[in-house]
Amino acid sequence: MEKGPAELVTILDFGSQYTQLIARRVRECQVYSEIVPYNAPLEEIKCRAPKALILSGGPASVTSSGAPALEKEIFHLGIPILGICYGMQLMARLLGGKVRAALKREYGRAELFIKEKSPLFAGLEEKMPVWMSHGDRVMSLPPGFTALGYSANSPIAAMGDERKGFYGLQFHPEVMHTPKGATIIDNFLKKIAGCSPEWTMHSFIKRTEEEIKERVGKEKVICALSGGVDSSVLALLLHKIIGGQLTAIFVDNGLLRAHEAEEVKNRFKNLYHINLILVDARSRFLEKLKGVESPEEKRKIIGAEFIRIFEKEAKNIGRVRFLAQGTLYPDVIESRSPTGGPSSTIKTHHNVGGLPQDMHFELIEPFKFLFKDEVRKVGEELGLPREIVWRHPFPGPGLAVRIIGEVTEERLRIIREAERILDEEIKKGGLYDKVWQAFAVLLPVRTVGVMGDERTYENVIALRAVTSRDGMTADWATLPYEVIARISNSITSEVRGVNRVVYDVSSKPPSTIEWE
Ligand code: XMP
Repeated sequence: MEKGPAELVTILDFGSQYTQLIARRVRECQVYSEIVPYNAPLEEIKCRAPKALILSGGPASVTSSGAPALEKEIFHLGIPILGICYGMQLMARLLGGKVRAALKREYGRAELFIKEKSPLFAGLEEKMPVWMSHGDRVMSLPPGFTALGYSANSPIAAMGDERKGFYGLQFHPEVMHTPKGATIIDNFLKKIAGCSPEWTMHSFIKRTEEEIKERVGKEKVICALSGGVDSSVLALLLHKIIGGQLTAIFVDNGLLRAHEAEEVKNRFKNLYHINLILVDARSRFLEKLKGVESPEEKRKIIGAEFIRIFEKEAKNIGRVRFLAQGTLYPDVIESRSPTGGPSSTIKTHHNVGGLPQDMHFELIEPFKFLFKDEVRKVGEELGLPREIVWRHPFPGPGLAVRIIGEVTEERLRIIREAERILDEEIKKGGLYDKVWQAFAVLLPVRTVGVMGDERTYENVIALRAVTSRDGMTADWATLPYEVIARISNSITSEVRGVNRVVYDVSSKPPSTIEWE
């Protein structure tokens, strides 16, 4: 197991949709946190020697049989524990308090009144808005605890045993809707658990440098470079550490946006001097996609083709021992969450990272304990420019999933030009950083139009712009009308073959962000 930072806070996950947010909030206080399933063996937890534990919320009720529980011994580790929502109820019950179903579910905004001074609420007003989401509540306190705060529906909305450093919150301090939540978490970490702010991306880079140098020695490493945030930061970080032992492989599958391949070449090969293999596979992909209309079929073909090309190029380099991938912490957490991760496959997402298991490389995954915002910070520390670090996500199958129906050279030209116009206008309007993604979609219908005095019968472009925090849910963005108008005018006048532009006003769910 990799060496962690000196100070660690362990979050026991009871299946809350907010568990990852807890981990991120803790890290924003510059304290390293890890998420483990609630039923992780106690020995394993002890071994990692955390400075504090946080028990997450969860969908179950502590009063029902078979509800996720904990070994009581956890309360004898001699470290502070913060229970949130379900975590608080479980703590109350295991330590001798009483928990019952509330008459009314409390969901949404509530007012918290603090009635006892406590280090947990240091520096805060006596009244503050908080976010609640629970059906059960603590009816009587365990011995040693004091009620610290209440809300209209929760007589015990916060509790604490200051001597032991055990605290419980009925509300969710980790969500945005609890505006002072970050202060409460910071108080728990610094004032109660005595953590110091040591987790920075600067320290992460230093530690990673040592680890990778030691592990790689004089061997060769390859990685796939897509030009997206994760693979760009990964390539640059590894290059800084092992220089010429790294080779990055960039596959131009012909499904990229205008100038992308040249930009990658200019930056990574010419500016950063990374060993970069550029594979021109444009006609190969187009050939394979001929006549294919189904989105999943397109994804499968593109994924498989990518792997074949990557394998071939890797062989040409000679003996390579390591493959570096930009796996992120959410992927790791989801693959071993107590609920088993995402329930159903809506779309098969092919990242360039999704390489085959049977390639016999040893994996290097320096970001497997980082969240996306932390990878961005690493990129900034390494001096990557804003336009890469803050780039909108772009799907692995590229423009193929933005062309509904068959992918042809002509249709690629149309979508590419439309996307270029949209991108320019979004940036000109100062909107790029305000939306999660903005892109164009080429529809498989033609409609009647009029140009000069002539009837036209041409393609339709849909514009899609969404706001989102993590891509899991999204709202359609209310772009200013004048920006939409400019995009529409430019597309219909400049892009040959398009006579109509529409704006997508659907949120996710029920829609998805991409159309395919
Ligand atoms: P959806 O369309 O599922 O997209 O709402 C959520 C986020 O994922 C991106 N996306 C992909 N990324 N390979 C990727 O690497 C894919 O096949 C893929 N499909 C969607 C999408 O752009 C959005 O940010």
